[in-house]
Formats: sequence, C-alpha cells, structure tokens
Amino acid sequence: MRSWLFVPGDSEKKLAKAHLSGADVLILDMEDSVALSNKETARGITADYLAGADRTGPKLFVRMNALDTPFWEDDLAAVVKAKPDGIMVPKTKSGDCIKTVAFALTEHEQEAGIAAGSTKLCCVATETAASLFTLGTYQGASPRLSMMTWGAEDLAADLGARSNKDDDGLYTGPYRLARTLTLLGAVAAGVDPVDSIYADFRDEAGLETDARAAARDGFTGKMAIHPAQVPIINRVFTPSGEDLAHAHAVIKAFEDAGDVGVVSLDGVMLDMPHLKQARRLVERASQSST
Ligand code: COA
Ligand code: MG
Repeated sequence: MRSWLFVPGDSEKKLAKAHLSGADVLILDMEDSVALSNKETARGITADYLAGADRTGPKLFVRMNALDTPFWEDDLAAVVKAKPDGIMVPKTKSGDCIKTVAFALTEHEQEAGIAAGSTKLCCVATETAASLFTLGTYQGASPRLSMMTWGAEDLAADLGARSNKDDDGLYTGPYRLARTLTLLGAVAAGVDPVDSIYADFRDEAGLETDARAAARDGFTGKMAIHPAQVPIINRVFTPSGEDLAHAHAVIKAFEDAGDVGVVSLDGVMLDMPHLKQARRLVERASQSST
C-alpha cells in the first residue's frame, strides 16, 4: 500500500474523482476536513459511497473522529456496516486507543453479520505532545492494526508552535522526532510505517524529495491530499528494476553459497541484514504489482 489519498467524506465530487486517481488506498475523511456542522452529512455520504463503490479498486478506509470527541461512536455506527476495509483513528494517545476502537468494531461487525476482525485499523499516532512518549505501546494492541502514520499539523497546534518548518522548509526537531518515533514504533509493532502528507500540493519536486527520504528510511508509503500527488508517490515507493535486480542477486549469492552467514558480491560484504533487506524488497515489489 504505497499511496493513501485523503478525500473529504462530505464531497461526492471528490469521492468520484478519487476512485480514478490510482491511489492504493482512499481515506474517506470524517475528521479534520469536515466542518463540525457537516459531520452527519459526511457520515451519510461516506456510508453510501462505501455501499456503492466498485470494491475491485482502491482499498477504502474511513478516518473517524478522535476518541475524545462526541462523534466517533456515531461515525462507526454509520459506516462499519457498509464494510470499509479499515478505519483510521486520528490523535491516538497509545496502543490502548487501538484496543478501544477494536472492541467497538467487534460489536458493530457482529451486529452487521460481518466476520469478526475483518475491519482493519490504522492510526495517526503523533498529534499531541503526550503521544510521542507512547509510540512503543502499539505492539500487540490488536491484530487489526496494519499501519501507523504521523502528522505535523495537529502536533504544532498542540505545542503552540509558530511553524513546524524552518526557513529552508524543513521540519524542525519536534516533527522529525515524531516522524522517527512513528517509523520505529510501527516496525516494532510489525505494521506498515507510512509517511505523513506533503501539504504544498503544487510542489511536485518537493513532494518527490520528501517521499524519497521516507522510502530511504524504511517507510512503505506516503499519504496524499491531492490526486496529482498519487503517481509521484506510487513511483517512489515501487522498487526500481535496478533495486530489484540487486535484491535478486543478493538472494542468489546466499543460495549459491549454501549454509553460510556471510558472502561477497561485487567486492562488497553481505551478511544476514542484507539478505533480510533483499527479501523484504522482493516481497514489497510483488505487493505493489498486484
Ligand atoms: N480527492 C479527490 N479529488 C480531489 C482531491 C482529493 N483529495 N483534491 C482535489 N480534487 C479534485 C478537485 O475537486 C478538482 O476536481 P475538478 O477538476 O473536477 O474540479 C481537481 O481535483 C483539481 O483540484 P484543484 O483545483 O487542484 O484543488 P482544489 O483547490 O479543488 O482542492 C484541496 C484543494 C486541498 C481543498 C483538496 O485537494 C482537498 O480537499 N484535499 C484533501 C483534504 C483533506 O482531506 N485533508 C485532511 C487530511 S490532511
Ligand atoms: Mg488533523
């Protein structure tokens, strides 16, 4: 799952457009992109969209409102029966928030006659200062959890920051820390780490640089806010032919050498972490081609 495109859940026009964007996942948003006065309308439009959508296309996740709002239970009641592939939980404070939503999902699935556990979960895990201290608590929270991501906008608001970027347009320390801890927390929990949005959607070169840095560090995908960002993200997070050929060569070098812990390839030492990396890349490439 390389590209995760946000679509305001109260916009029928954008929902129709998003389906053709080429995104691997659409995140039908009922949270921050929907005005308080429009929450009920968004629930109706999102549930109808889910019920009528061609499910051979992108995976469909719904971003519910946060657990400390009066909206989230009605959000789940409205959409789970329409069988989203997953729910995105914003502003999680720790793995306990995932447990709370997982429990509620089980009840809704039972009521709707949907197999227990079929609705996946993902979360935006860095939106408050306190949440940065708990990024190691998602491991084992729920088998539903499949992805973790981070956000810089709400964290900046919580910190009372004037900006989250420096004069060169780069994230400052608190946000780089949030990004790093999310990557580590997600990998520790055995789920996909997905990079945050790139808000300046007209800056394609900036998005590509940002996405490349994320892919280099181990993120498996990136969120988008505009359809024009999707092809760039898909390209960056699809392993190149050259990367794949190298990974196959590494795997073959170990196979040819038999039961050994270290081999050399083109004058470079390779040991177990290199084999593990190569296998992961091949696995990821097979996923992005399906
Ligand atoms: N999903 C689907 N379609 C989208 C889209 C999205 N996220 N963003 C833009 N579009 C559509 C527009 O409706 C427009 O359609 P049209 O050609 O039929 O008129 C087309 O793509 C071009 O859009 P553009 O004019 O470049 O942008 P805009 O000014 O209409 O929209 C935003 C800009 C930021 C408001 C819009 O991209 C958006 O709503 N993004 C998602 C915001 C969100 O969900 N935020 C929450 C998570 S951070
Ligand atoms: Mg937000």
